[in-house]
Amino acid sequence: MNAKKVIIDCDPGIDDSLALMLAVNLSELDIVGITVVCGNVPACKGAENALKVLEWMERMDIPVYLGEESPLVRDYVDAMDTHGRDGLGESNYLPVTTVQPKQDAVRFMAKTFLQAKETGEKISVIALGPMTNLARLIERDPDSLEGLDELVSMGGSYKSHGNCSPVAEYNYWCDPHAAKEVYEAFEHLPQLAGKQIHMIGLDVTRKIVLTPNLIEYMCRLNPQMGERIRKITRFYLDFHWNQEGIIGCVINDPLAVAYFADRSLCSGFSAYTAIETQGISMGQSVVDRFEFWREKRKNSYILTKTDALRFMILFFKRVIHPDAEESMIAELMGRKWI
Ligand code: BDR
Ligand code: CA
Repeated sequence: MNAKKVIIDCDPGIDDSLALMLAVNLSELDIVGITVVCGNVPACKGAENALKVLEWMERMDIPVYLGEESPLVRDYVDAMDTHGRDGLGESNYLPVTTVQPKQDAVRFMAKTFLQAKETGEKISVIALGPMTNLARLIERDPDSLEGLDELVSMGGSYKSHGNCSPVAEYNYWCDPHAAKEVYEAFEHLPQLAGKQIHMIGLDVTRKIVLTPNLIEYMCRLNPQMGERIRKITRFYLDFHWNQEGIIGCVINDPLAVAYFADRSLCSGFSAYTAIETQGISMGQSVVDRFEFWREKRKNSYILTKTDALRFMILFFKRVIHPDAEESMIAELMGRKWI
């Protein structure tokens, strides 16, 4: 099987870091670059964190590019309350000093897509943060989008409530104008005709909960990796307890990576989706499930169901240890294993 070429656009971020750990260990993916955008933390901090993860995973061969440092229109609001001041749960791991992030994520994307357009070799994007880099790419180099194969975006929500307002999810709320521009590009641009944004929203990611018991099992199987995960998720667990009253943390971004590698992990439906940029519903993804706006092109594929157990087994086997026991993971998730 040929590995699928992909750029991971992210804002690490605790769950972005877990997503990167998974992505670099999936043989189904060929990561041509990691581009960083401001979101959970400023882009320069996010790039520092991406490099830390790559060093842990011994994948310093993957280049990291610095992207946009502010949203298109609105003032930047980080998510350090959720991810800690360092973006990695105040784990305070030292920065990598041997490699620096490269300049200009948007230029890198444009160059990569143009090359792909010429060679006919398609490149996909997994977007795990606000879509500011992608919106800038659409503004500066729309022709390059012919080289884009698929876009999987962790963001938005269909029926689930928001995590930044009653209706808005953070990535789309942080830069609603960027999200709107990207969704509209999939509605109007001829070079994206027939393509849809795969929206991995809160409807599915809320099902992916990493609990202290699962982390304990990680530590038993792979003490080094497990302890790193324990250290970076402690802050996230506290946040979830204070905010949502749950023992465990929702890890959104790794599901988008897993879905990119294995489509059978989530299912959903095609629909036209619009993004609101103003007022009390700023950042909301408005999904036209019942085709009120029949004339609109279905620019999105909305994922609504997922198999959390299968996701967790994949994460354990690829990131923690190939011998991780499925029945043990099921038991720790309160599931029956037959
Ligand atoms: C998204 O927002 C960020 O805080 C996470 O990294 C994830 O990408 C979830 O709403
Ligand atoms: Ca993220």
